[in-house]
Amino acid sequence: MSLTQIKAKITGTGMYVPPKVVSNFDLEKIMDTSDEWIRQRSGIETRHQVEDQGTADLAYEAALKAFESAQCSAKDIDLIILATLSADHMFPGSSALLQARLGLETTPSMDLRAQCSGFLYSLSVAKSFIESGAYKRILVVGAETHSPILDYTTRGRDVAVLFGDGAGAVIVEASPDATSQIGKVILHSQGQFADRLWVERPGTRGGSGKWLTQDHLAEGKQYPYMEGRYVYKHAVERLQEVVKEVLETEGLTIADIDCFLFHQANIRINEKVAELLHIPLEKCPSNIQKYGNCSAASIPMLLDEMVRSGRVKRGDKLLMAAFGAGFTWAGSVVRF
Ligand code: UT7
Repeated sequence: MSLTQIKAKITGTGMYVPPKVVSNFDLEKIMDTSDEWIRQRSGIETRHQVEDQGTADLAYEAALKAFESAQCSAKDIDLIILATLSADHMFPGSSALLQARLGLETTPSMDLRAQCSGFLYSLSVAKSFIESGAYKRILVVGAETHSPILDYTTRGRDVAVLFGDGAGAVIVEASPDATSQIGKVILHSQGQFADRLWVERPGTRGGSGKWLTQDHLAEGKQYPYMEGRYVYKHAVERLQEVVKEVLETEGLTIADIDCFLFHQANIRINEKVAELLHIPLEKCPSNIQKYGNCSAASIPMLLDEMVRSGRVKRGDKLLMAAFGAGFTWAGSVVRF
């Protein structure tokens, strides 16, 4: 295969969620919220939470499933890319912990921080490495352990009820034919809105001794802050834009797409985007009801569920799109 002919494809998928399930009714017992509020505003009914695992552990389990599905093993992997906003430690990256858990000696590994768009950013990096001929088989994982960084009191209810823990993984390899390939991944970011959705502390900003102070802790700056309505509005606009942008790039229309795999932040966001773009809802599957918002893990988790249930088949055209903190957003058509 000459360099210009190499295309990247997804050859296997996997996902994992920790066993503990927390319902909206469970949350009602620890903060001032209600099942009705959470379901009406977001569509979420339950989410999974870790008990004694970290992000690399969830990533490991999802990776094993993806190896099985791609009929390969850890030793066949040339590069690991792990997208997360909830790493096990500030450094080193969780990808290094994952690499060690997979029993690998010196296989390169990198974390990619693009929040809820992290999986699509990672897919873009993997595609470029495969298509340049640098690597033959890449493990891409989106993994999140949100629950330890959420404020499960009434103060943090606007964010805490929305997020869950989980991991999704894919194997990316060179494709011998055009029927299966990852299309151009369109990437965007707009850092001017960083403080509309962020965890401010711990952080290096502000100089020495300001990493994490008692005042920061008292103000709750170690927990995520989100300007919900503002983020919602931007998400609906940017997702619409990026869907149009990828369709135009690929010379396709909405009708050509078999399945739209949108980031699972809020079912209302995806329903609004579908309504505005005239996308039939049956082409927009969701699993946010069970898992909540799993940030970088949500698209690969949804993809794996759709593949295993037979709703996504080889040759299908999948339009993936995500929006999240940064702000970052991204989209791509994947010929599965
Ligand atoms: O994945 C990253 C991207 N994230 C997103 O895209 C999320 C975008 N934002 C959203 O999806 C929505 O803004 C939310 C679902 C987060 C919130 O929905 P909303 O309709 O914008 O609600 P709100 O924040 O305006 O709050 C409405 C009311 C407030 O009470 P008052 O001021 O009207 O009395 C809140 O205090 O709901 C209250 N509230 C809650 N009540 C019960 C906020 N959180 C809760 C809660 N339970 N968990």
